Formats: sequence, C-alpha cells, structure tokens
Amino acid sequence: MSPSPRLIIETLRWDEARGVLEMIDQRVLPARFERLAYDSASAVADGIRSMVVRGAPAIGCAAAYGVALEALRCRDLCAHAFAAALDEGFAVLDASRPTAVNLRWALEHMRLCLDALADAPPGVVAGRLLQEAHAVLAADVAANRAMGAHGAALLSDGMRVLTHCNAGALATGGYGTALGVIRAAVASGKHLQVIADETRPFLQGARLTAWELQQEDIPVTLITDNMAGHLMQRGEVDAVIVGADRVAANGDFANKIGTYMVAVLAHRHGLPFYVAAPLSTIDRRLADGAGIPIEERAAAEVRGFAGQQWAPEGVAVRNPAFDVTPAALVTALITERGVVPAPNVDSIAALFD
Ligand code: MRU
Repeated sequence: MSPSPRLIIETLRWDEARGVLEMIDQRVLPARFERLAYDSASAVADGIRSMVVRGAPAIGCAAAYGVALEALRCRDLCAHAFAAALDEGFAVLDASRPTAVNLRWALEHMRLCLDALADAPPGVVAGRLLQEAHAVLAADVAANRAMGAHGAALLSDGMRVLTHCNAGALATGGYGTALGVIRAAVASGKHLQVIADETRPFLQGARLTAWELQQEDIPVTLITDNMAGHLMQRGEVDAVIVGADRVAANGDFANKIGTYMVAVLAHRHGLPFYVAAPLSTIDRRLADGAGIPIEERAAAEVRGFAGQQWAPEGVAVRNPAFDVTPAALVTALITERGVVPAPNVDSIAALFD
C-alpha cells in the first residue's frame, strides 16, 4: 500500500473496530508504507525494542497503549490475576528501551491512573486506561503544536536549518518536536531549507526525516553525517534544531548518536543550536547528563543494514544509540511552556512551577 502524497502521518492510531493499536512500521520506510497491529503489552514492547516505533514521545504513547491493551486483554480475569498481568505488562514495557525517559513518564502516568481505580472491576479499569492512553497521545500532539508556536519565531525566512535523526511526526504522537518547529515556521509563511543528517547507523534522517518532509513539500537536502562540518565551514548552515530523548535537570540532554558532534560543530561555527522537547522528556531526577543510561544496540546494525553486511565478519563493533550534549552548547530549549534561552537548573525548574 502506498500513502497518498498529502498523508497526515499517524504514527500510532487506535482501531476501534478491532480493538488494536496500529503503528506505522518505521523499519521499512520509505520503501514500504505498512501498519502493524498490536494487542498486548508484550507485543507493543517488541514493537518498541525492534524499532517499529521509535522516537522518545512516540515510544511513550505506545507504552501507554501497551498498558491499556494488556488491561483489555485480561479484563475477564479475577481482580488478583488482572493486577498480576498488568504488573507484568508494566515491567515488560519498562524494559523495552532504556534512554528515552518518555517511556517511564508514560508508565508512571498510567500507573497513577490505575492506582486511582483500585476498587473498580477489571472491565471498568480497562476502559478507563484506554481513555487515558488516548489522552496521552492527544496531549503529545498538543505539546508539539505548542512547541511549534513558541519555536517558529527562532527561525527566520530563508534559513538553512540542519537537523539530526528524526524528531518529526514519526517520532511523536504527531506533528513532531524539532520538525514541528520547522513545520510551524513554514506554515507561518517562511521559506526554510532543511538539511537532514543521514543518521548512521539506523538512518532515521535518510529514511524518515527526508520522507516525512517530502510529504509536505518542505525542501530537504540529505547529507551523510560527516558532511555537516564542511557545510558549516562554508557558511551553508544557519541554525541547528534537534529533539531529545532525555533532558537532565541542568539542561544536558541525550539525543541520537552524533548529536554531540553536531553541537560542538555548531558552537565552533557560532551557529544557534536549538533543542525541542516536551516536559515529558525532562528527567528532573537526574542532576546532569552523566547519569543518562545510554542504550547499546546490536553490532549487526553497524556491520551492515537490511540484510546486507559490508564490514568483515567478527570485527569488533561499538553501537551506542545516543550521546549526551552538555547544556553549555544549547542556545535555547523549546518546550510547550515556552522557549528557555541557555537552559540551566533554575530555568528548567521554573518550567514546572
Ligand atoms: O533510536 P531512536 O530512533 O528512537 O532515536 C530517536 C531520537 O534520538 C530522536 O531525535 C528523539 O527521540 C527526539 S524525537 C521527537
């Protein structure tokens, strides 16, 4: 099935008739546009682990649906067995990926909702958890649109804006964080040129960002990750904007591997470096970025891609999926509550007042 060129990208959608969560399979884009159906917490956890769905806010939304699906699947059990099945569902979802804090944020949110329904029968609880998952998804889209409204003013007409990985509709409930700011600037009449880093090894920039921007005719030029410095040195980049997987209390943040390199380059060339992230991505329990858990993924992702191997068999490989950029390199953090210039522990805390 091919999407229409004006497709509104619904990364996750609830199929009411079948009672399943549908997710766009991001492993096969842009060659194929397919949705897969999910009906349990462990199935959703598999989808998160295997990157059918990826991007911090999207993972959080998927996890919220995972809890609801588990409750629906087990609603005919007795209260004791129902509670045990849900505990198991929470645990399997929690273990699916470690870096994006939105996953834990969503699970804690669903747990609070569950605890508030302590004496309700399983069928009632399941219905209520499903409503809450819909609310988590809707709130994420609203946060992205608010970030777009706040952040668009930072991008001027004619700017060439570099982005890394995919922080778009595909990485969120919809609209996107970094790409949401770009979308909002374009919607306000500005002409932007997006430069998309390919984003080795999983190619989120080449496969997802380039595809997503093409759907809306937003001009995009793809480069390999090692070309960013050259373009900056030649004056061909005006600003950088990225998303985040976890922002520590002091503004240090983890994002897709290679982001730190781009931030250092932007600093060297005097370019503004913006981070767009909702409050659900801020982990105030971590004082700084040193404590952010960094996922190490399979060696096969670096040795090759999609069944093709180009490195010699058995060569040692490192594959950290994220890196940490110090707050000192961030020009401004864009959130749904507004823009925070040069974020630090006080200005980040003030967002939660
Ligand atoms: O490994 P991924 O594809 O889940 O990593 C995604 C990123 O690093 C994104 O930049 C981040 O989640 C921001 S998404 C709005």
